[in-house]
Amino acid sequence: MLSSTASLYAFLSLSSALTITTRGNAGYYYMPVEFDYDPDSRVTAELTFGSADKEPIQVVMDTGSSDAWIWSPNGTIHWGSNYLGAVGPCNASVPTPYNPSLSSTAIVYDHNSTYAYAGNAKIVSGAQYVNDTLTATNGSPIPNVQIAMENYGTLRQLDDGSCKIPEFDRGIIGLAPYTNTTSGPAFRQNLFDAGLIATRTMTMWFDHTTTSLSKLVGGVIFGGIDTSKYTGELIQVPNVIADYQIGIYIPKPNVTINGQTFVPDQNTTCLLDSGAHADYIPFDYLSNMTSQFLAASNGTLIQYAGVIGFNGSCENIPSDLNITYTFPGVEEGKSVSIDVPIKNYARGLQTPPDADMGDICLFNLESGGCQFGAPFLSGAFMGLDDEGAEIWLAQGAVSAEGQGVSGSLKVFEAGEGFGSL
Ligand SMILES: *[C@@H]1O[C@H](CO)[C@@H](O)[C@H](O)[C@H]1NC(C)=O
Ligand SMILES: *[C@@H]1O[C@H](CO)[C@@H](O)[C@H](O)[C@H]1NC(C)=O
Ligand SMILES: *[C@@H]1O[C@H](CO)[C@@H](O)[C@H](O)[C@H]1NC(C)=O
Ligand SMILES: *[C@@H]1O[C@H](CO)[C@@H](O)[C@H](O)[C@H]1NC(C)=O
Ligand SMILES: *[C@@H]1O[C@H](CO)[C@@H](O)[C@H](O)[C@H]1NC(C)=O
Ligand SMILES: *[C@@H]1O[C@H](CO)[C@@H](O)[C@H](O)[C@H]1NC(C)=O
Ligand SMILES: *[C@@H]1O[C@H](CO)[C@@H](O)[C@H](O)[C@H]1NC(C)=O
Ligand SMILES: *[C@@H]1O[C@H](CO)[C@@H](O)[C@H](O)[C@H]1NC(C)=O
Ligand SMILES: *[C@@H]1O[C@H](CO)[C@@H](O)[C@H](O)[C@H]1NC(C)=O
Ligand SMILES: *[C@@H]1O[C@H](CO)[C@@H](O)[C@H](O)[C@H]1NC(C)=O
Ligand SMILES: *[C@@H]1O[C@H](CO)[C@@H](O)[C@H](O)[C@H]1NC(C)=O
Repeated sequence: MLSSTASLYAFLSLSSALTITTRGNAGYYYMPVEFDYDPDSRVTAELTFGSADKEPIQVVMDTGSSDAWIWSPNGTIHWGSNYLGAVGPCNASVPTPYNPSLSSTAIVYDHNSTYAYAGNAKIVSGAQYVNDTLTATNGSPIPNVQIAMENYGTLRQLDDGSCKIPEFDRGIIGLAPYTNTTSGPAFRQNLFDAGLIATRTMTMWFDHTTTSLSKLVGGVIFGGIDTSKYTGELIQVPNVIADYQIGIYIPKPNVTINGQTFVPDQNTTCLLDSGAHADYIPFDYLSNMTSQFLAASNGTLIQYAGVIGFNGSCENIPSDLNITYTFPGVEEGKSVSIDVPIKNYARGLQTPPDADMGDICLFNLESGGCQFGAPFLSGAFMGLDDEGAEIWLAQGAVSAEGQGVSGSLKVFEAGEGFGSL
């Protein structure tokens, strides 16, 4: 998710001394992730906190932010005002299955936190942190994970007087590369500092899917890589982050559809953000490159109210049409091409039936700006190594649906990384 470039209170919480301990994990952690069939879906995981809870919380696994939080048992959200940061007339308490006072493994302590997202359209704050066991469905429990507990949220969301509860996040695990401006809790860095993983690496992939218009599934691994989750070569791409930015920034790619390649005309870098629901292709608003791109789709793709969509109903999207993104590699002469099936962009939004254009299946895809969110990642394999601030990409969506970790798992030892494969 697009977070503000600096969180409101930029605590400088540099990590404590490195302590290597053996706690029985196999040197890596695996968590299944999903991309729901819903217009607002991002890359999420079902996580259970503490010793008492059986009901998981669906949290956003967000490479666009760097801090980890969930709701405290007495959280409330406030909305109904269109003004930035203003508290609206509507409020609701946030139900959460996690109550640290019922968890024998919880350590709660006072620590203020405030996190702002989407240009301050969403702000959450809290007064306590908890360290507790975190367990992903089908994953092994991670001990003593530090999470901020938020009790107050403000959403910039207009209301018609009914105070109907809007969609809001149940928690966010920030996965952005750790820097000296990370306020934290820094989930990945903390795993490393606690000696639970030997490298500051993370991989994320999605599986091949045989169905259309449904939830897509994949996984993340901290501290290792399953080489069966991609095809072709895993290529390091340039990290072009600016000093003031948080997240993952890569150069703009060439964009190919139906054999026609476009070199995007907007001068920008691209945010690689698993916490974003949509992709934005850097075709300048003022040029006609978007129209040329749509024309190259041979009447398949169309623009409606600024959003790119399929000219027809979602059910009829051809399953073999891709958009291919080709990124330059760090190494001279190398590049990596990632096919994203256009059907992955459909997340359940259809134009209203009255439009005289006929059915249009609206995609989580727009032009202008540059962002590669959950739709792009549904076709990609991504590797991050904070040691050296490395970003690696390959063609994903090749592994069997829901397979989890395979025999091709490699756990990284200290000093190893994607370059040593
Ligand atoms: C409820 O919220 C208040 C702050 O508004 C906080 O001081 C208190 O500890 C919270 N209680 C729990 C159980 O989280
Ligand atoms: C929450 O909303 C109710 C009306 O539903 C209102 O009476 C109350 O003052 C609000 N509380 C806060 C803290 O905004
Ligand atoms: C946390 O925030 C509260 C209220 O905003 C403030 O009174 C308190 O001093 C803060 N605590 C710390 C440790 O900054
Ligand atoms: C809580 O977790 C943080 C981050 O891993 C760690 O630095 C801290 O020592 C932990 N606190 C306790 C009481 O274990
Ligand atoms: C953080 O690191 C950047 C370069 O990576 C450096 O320019 C900046 O001065 C550092 N800031 C602090 C507070 O150490
Ligand atoms: C592109 O943007 C960068 C940074 O804003 C600027 O330094 C550069 O001159 C621009 N290049 C072109 C061709 O406009
Ligand atoms: C786009 O603009 C170029 C020149 O500005 C023109 O030659 C071309 O026909 C236009 N293409 C479309 C699809 O409008
Ligand atoms: C474009 O559509 C026309 C007419 O339906 C068809 O003959 C042609 O093969 C299509 N071209 C591509 C590249 O799909
Ligand atoms: C959309 O499809 C309809 C019929 O399937 C066709 O008549 C129309 O030209 C298409 N629109 C575009 C912009 O290609
Ligand atoms: C789309 O990409 C997939 C996966 O790379 C590939 O198998 C398929 O042939 C591609 N389809 C087209 C029409 O290029
Ligand atoms: C993008 O296309 C341009 C023009 O064909 C080419 O010069 C450039 O190398 C391509 N970039 C990549 C990453 O393939």
